[in-house]
Amino acid sequence: MEPTVSPLQIGEHQIWPPLILAPMSGVTNRTMRALYKPFGLGLTVTEFVSSNALKYGSKRTMEMIDQHGLEKPVSTQLWGDDPETMAAAAKVVRECGADLVDINFGCPAPKVTKTNGGSACLRDVGRCERIMAAVVEAVDCPVTMKMRLGWTESDLVYVDVARRAEKVGIKAVTLHARTARQFYRGEADWSHIKRLKESIGIPVIGNGDLDDAHLAMQRMRETGVDAIMLGRATLGNPWLISQIADLMEGREARPTPAPADRLRFCIVHYERMVEELGEARAVPQMRKHVALYLKGIPGSAVLRERIMRIPTAAEAIGVIEETIARIESQSTVAA
Ligand SMILES: Cc1cc2nc3c(=O)[nH]c(=O)nc-3n(C[C@H](O)[C@H](O)[C@H](O)COP(=O)(O)O)c2cc1C
Repeated sequence: MEPTVSPLQIGEHQIWPPLILAPMSGVTNRTMRALYKPFGLGLTVTEFVSSNALKYGSKRTMEMIDQHGLEKPVSTQLWGDDPETMAAAAKVVRECGADLVDINFGCPAPKVTKTNGGSACLRDVGRCERIMAAVVEAVDCPVTMKMRLGWTESDLVYVDVARRAEKVGIKAVTLHARTARQFYRGEADWSHIKRLKESIGIPVIGNGDLDDAHLAMQRMRETGVDAIMLGRATLGNPWLISQIADLMEGREARPTPAPADRLRFCIVHYERMVEELGEARAVPQMRKHVALYLKGIPGSAVLRERIMRIPTAAEAIGVIEETIARIESQSTVAA
């Protein structure tokens, strides 16, 4: 079996397969990253962390950057608009175990852009460059950057920002091929990702709307990117990661497990979240995950409604177990 793609090299880190879990705030916490990594991810990224918040080191912020117990490598993502604060934050996360530091120039959320952070930085490419240079200077590990195409359709700055990134020593660039103003509307335009790959010498990671293993490989081939990053489509469906990893390793993609097995994994996910976060935090966070694991399962609309109202982990897991029993008894009858 011959691999169909090459490993992604970021500084001293060889990342195999070149398949990365997208940073997702409120989602890709430590538990989730550890749970999803064995499906075949080469790299995971923390939720974005405010460089300002790191100055105060609150318990919640420190938890976000904690790498304890995770397979390496892990990248820690920072956001902010001030080069010095970003550099200081990068030093802190490096001391706390980050293998790579990633700079966020992509978040379109108003609570971030109103302080000129995230994608709002793209309105001032000079500032982007100063932030990147300060962070690269501050740490002894590779620094990467993730961005959108630009603030608006009429101001697509990604090639300019990526060239500045390369100039100041950034080791890889991820492009989510939408503008900030688009939020999640429309489709990610991968022709821009191809253009970026043709414009810079450092590795390019393509991101946006990959929800099928064959589509992911097609995008890689068409654009020549060095790696791909997957976000929303993995939620409730980590098997997509294994399918892409299979294709990258030169195997046929394994089938998605049967509904009952998917729900069994959902219970593992639930229990791990309760163990690590405690029930009070895990139950609300797990509602969205359970809803996604239930996708495509007969009667899932009613079950989703029920799960949304259930206040304890034991009851929620009970409902999932009942659903597994129901699915299995139905398939026995059908057989
Ligand atoms: C709930 C949620 C939270 C996100 N948080 C972050 C974040 O903290 N940092 C970041 O760079 N991107 C964040 N993103 C954007 C994703 O990393 C990714 O770029 C985007 O979802 C497009 O990829 P996809 O189509 O595969 O989901 C977030 C996306 C979602 C849906």
